[in-house]
Amino acid sequence: MTQDDAKRMAARRALEFVEDGMLLGLGSGSTSRMFIEELGERVKQGLRVRGIATSTASRQLAESLSIPIITFDDSPVLDLAVDGADEVGPGLALIKGGGGALLREKIVASAARKFIVIADSSKLVNQLGRFPLPVEVIQMALPVVTRKLDAFGLNPRLRYRPDGARFITDEGNFIVDCSCGEITDPAKTAADIRSIPGVVEHGLFLRMASVALIASDQGVIEVSKLYGDRYKKAISRLAS
Ligand code: A5P
Repeated sequence: MTQDDAKRMAARRALEFVEDGMLLGLGSGSTSRMFIEELGERVKQGLRVRGIATSTASRQLAESLSIPIITFDDSPVLDLAVDGADEVGPGLALIKGGGGALLREKIVASAARKFIVIADSSKLVNQLGRFPLPVEVIQMALPVVTRKLDAFGLNPRLRYRPDGARFITDEGNFIVDCSCGEITDPAKTAADIRSIPGVVEHGLFLRMASVALIASDQGVIEVSKLYGDRYKKAISRLAS
């Protein structure tokens, strides 16, 4: 099975949580794109849902599939948000923002009664930090924020686009990727980053996800908020 096959399986499983009439948060990235495509098929068959997208790309895709898009003026509460992740760790702590949409992703996830993560099993880790942690930064504050992230030992690097231009988020900010190494205390790392004026948001999503649907050769398993040895035991079954 390819990684894309696994992502598609996780996306399809997430559809089982969608009910007629729901207000949905639509994530960003390749796995979320598959979820939106699958959702579009269901909408074509008569499912009535409305959604808020976490990026311009996801909104455009949803609109192209006739999924009605709303804003938080229509409702500040969503029934369900479905999104991918760059890393899924113990307690369903996540790193997100590899695609640069972390700010809207976090807002949308926070507004949802239930937040489901969809991923292939390569995203499961025993400790967060292998994937660089994205931090969204106000443009004029970049040198100030970078210096302070450096002082916390987080090794910040400004993100560039493939054409060499600085990456700009949908909200007009920069992204700094931090190569932190193993994040032993995600709550502390999150608090350190949040303490810096000029930081808009960071990609640590802690205590937000309700469940992760993780797909591999063995099918899709639901990973819930396990910690320590129970978590390691659960994910080692996937690696075997
Ligand atoms: C987008 O900003 C990210 O948070 C994505 O959810 C994350 O990068 C996962 O992307 P894939 O589904 O493409 O792996």
